Amino acid sequence: MNKPNILIIGRIGQVGWELRHKLACLGHVTTLEYPEIDFTKPDSIRSAIRSAQPTVLINAAAYTAVDKAESEPELAMAINGTAPGIIAEEAKHLGSLLIHYSTDYVFDGSKNGAYVETDAPNPINIYGKTKLAGDDSVQAVGGKYLILRTSWVYGARGSNFLLTMLRLARERSELRIVNDQIGAPTSSECIALATSDILAQLLAPDIDGLDGRSGIYNLTNTGETSWCGFAKALLTQSAVTFGFTVPNLIPINTSEYPLPAKRPASSRLSCQRLAETFAIHMPPWEDALSLVLDTLAEGVSREKPR
Ligand SMILES: NC(=O)c1ccc[n+]([C@@H]2O[C@H](COP(=O)([O-])OP(=O)(O)OC[C@H]3O[C@@H](n4cnc5c(N)ncnc54)[C@H](OP(=O)(O)O)[C@@H]3O)[C@@H](O)[C@H]2O)c1
Repeated sequence: MNKPNILIIGRIGQVGWELRHKLACLGHVTTLEYPEIDFTKPDSIRSAIRSAQPTVLINAAAYTAVDKAESEPELAMAINGTAPGIIAEEAKHLGSLLIHYSTDYVFDGSKNGAYVETDAPNPINIYGKTKLAGDDSVQAVGGKYLILRTSWVYGARGSNFLLTMLRLARERSELRIVNDQIGAPTSSECIALATSDILAQLLAPDIDGLDGRSGIYNLTNTGETSWCGFAKALLTQSAVTFGFTVPNLIPINTSEYPLPAKRPASSRLSCQRLAETFAIHMPPWEDALSLVLDTLAEGVSREKPR
């Protein structure tokens, strides 16, 4: 059997970088990164995908600067809202499976309990509105697709809350962290591993094995915490390894830390559909955090003379 061609768009992003490493055994993996593909230019998207001829197309690229999006709504909409529809059209034309990522920020955060895939989105910031437009356009094209909806993404590389906290802990003795937003920190590695597991199942007989499973799936680490709870866990676990004193953490309310974009107060996502459909049981966020910190600690220990 020929190896499937797997195309990952967004190879240097948090999720894209992990995907590149986790999917290598499943097929022939190629990647694209800006400016080889530019989501603001429909022709660039179409020609890059047509020349790659993927069997599986994974879109890990997005405009992810949540606050900046408030002042760049058109750019954010072009990248998050319009481009995914064009990608979906190309995937459908090729008969390829499209895997696309979505966000907890499509919800307004007012639900008392975890959101399920059928809950009505109601984004409260530009980023969430543009991501929802992307989800809608992928669904409207109607090819073979999976939209994996995740939250609070972080990892050992890229730009994320964990790496920001580790930097600030070295610079400050006190940190004021928001404590009234609840969600599930999700490691980019776990997202890539779950994506790999799904793909392995779908590629096993042949790609038409999706049989009616196209749709949206929540995919986050399990459990919940606040940003302050996440900061406390990651700083406490890593202080000795990285050689800093845990700063005094002051829990604050969202209103005490005004940002351009509003955030949902509670954006927990239920992963039951993922478990029932693909038998994937995501690890608790605390376990995923330990793995990411191990990866970072490995880098530190390699730098030390023996
Ligand atoms: N980060 C989170 O907390 C979070 C939470 C929920 C859902 N998600 C979703 O998860 C997915 C992966 O997020 P991530 O955190 O891995 O993203 P990321 O680290 O910000 O990476 C985004 C990628 O998109 C690329 N990109 C940006 N503008 C582009 C353009 N005009 N044309 C082509 N590529 C462009 C970036 O390239 P450059 O670096 O060269 O610009 C980068 O490779 C996204 O769909 C995101 O919406 C993320």
